[in-house]
Amino acid sequence: RRPTVPTSPDALADAARRRMTRTAWSYVAGGAGAQRTVDANREAFGRYRTVPRQMVDVGERSLATTLLGRDLPAPVLFGPVGALEVAVQHRLGRGGRAAAPRNAEPALACAARHLGLPVVISTQASTPMEDTAAALGDSPRWFQLYWSSDDALVESFVARAEASGCEAIVVTLDTHVLGWRTQDLDLGYLPFARAEGIAQYLSDPVFRALVEARVRGAAAAGEAAPSNRPTPAAVRALLSMARHHSGPTLRNLTQPYARASVETFLDVFSRSTLTWADLAWLRERTTLPILVKGIQHPDDARAALDHGADGIIVSNHGGRQIDNAVASLDTLAPVVDAVRQHPGSGVPVLFDSGIRTGADVFTALALGADAVLLGRPWVYGLALAGADGVRAVTEHILAELDITMALAGVSDTGQIGRHNLAV
Ligand code: FNR
Repeated sequence: RRPTVPTSPDALADAARRRMTRTAWSYVAGGAGAQRTVDANREAFGRYRTVPRQMVDVGERSLATTLLGRDLPAPVLFGPVGALEVAVQHRLGRGGRAAAPRNAEPALACAARHLGLPVVISTQASTPMEDTAAALGDSPRWFQLYWSSDDALVESFVARAEASGCEAIVVTLDTHVLGWRTQDLDLGYLPFARAEGIAQYLSDPVFRALVEARVRGAAAAGEAAPSNRPTPAAVRALLSMARHHSGPTLRNLTQPYARASVETFLDVFSRSTLTWADLAWLRERTTLPILVKGIQHPDDARAALDHGADGIIVSNHGGRQIDNAVASLDTLAPVVDAVRQHPGSGVPVLFDSGIRTGADVFTALALGADAVLLGRPWVYGLALAGADGVRAVTEHILAELDITMALAGVSDTGQIGRHNLAV
């Protein structure tokens, strides 16, 4: 019997929490520091109220929209989630080990394909993007880029994304340093210390060459080559925990190749020296539209457009980066206004961080978002019931969006605007 997927967002999260291991739950649900931004992202939705409207013919409604020239059945995408295979680990069942959903990305792809909604494939996916692309068939997909400190690795990821049929590159700007994720730190949890956590990297020829060079260098030095680039304190703390951890999760670090892989990953994962001028470098290397994810200030939106971005994603990474950061939803309208007033206006503004329901999607669209990305809710659905769970969670959100539109007197998502909100 399949577990039912609750429609209430709190019940959904609760059911997933009971199913997932403690570390997996903490990794997915957790945020930065004292979790204030995780909470603020949700609280913000309570401050924007939708106004019901009557006697409008809403007998025929459509959620359909067009994004970057592609017709979509709804203004909803599956946001990028890294180390997915690790993120949905199940607790041990009473009758033995519960079957953890394997092939997490293919399961997501299967649900996305059924719904016709785009998947944003994470750089840090636990499945090589070519396999996810195969599972997606003709269904749309974008690629999310963590801009590596290694130029050749960036080029390789972008080339693979193009060959895998990705229709846009989403550059995540807000994670050039990993946030202070207290729950992971306290559990000594390092999702990317497992092969699944960095499978996308391990399947990359440029990354593998870097690992092999490191292993050769270590062998020549008669020891494990130390990382010569300073890593942020949090990463150092995590790595030292990983080295001393005796559990099965991190034991593989004692093997030279696995350890070299993790160390290489920590070295090349990000680049904190990036500035807006660097976007031109990426622009020269792909013809795909480039969207920037993590925008929270109108000046950053303007700078992104000045430097050729083809779209903006308003996001604070689900409260996982800066604790006490402003709620993502509160930054949406000012960013939308800045983009609409910009000479290069017309580019889409997407939103994420805190969406749990169809009513939330309505609010984000009313504040000016062209589409939204779902994060934790679909991960909870995946943990509960695989592809069926992702599908159920998404269908619940779309159903409530449709009902909210009907009751607000709107028959088309393009008509949703600030006039639908109480002043
Ligand atoms: C993320 N997010 C993320 N973003 C990104 O650009 N690349 C990534 O690899 C990941 N990985 C990731 C893992 C997990 C477990 C979570 C929960 C989130 C951020 C994600 O794309 C999105 O911005 C947030 O999830 C939105 O917040 P909510 O709606 O989940 O609260």
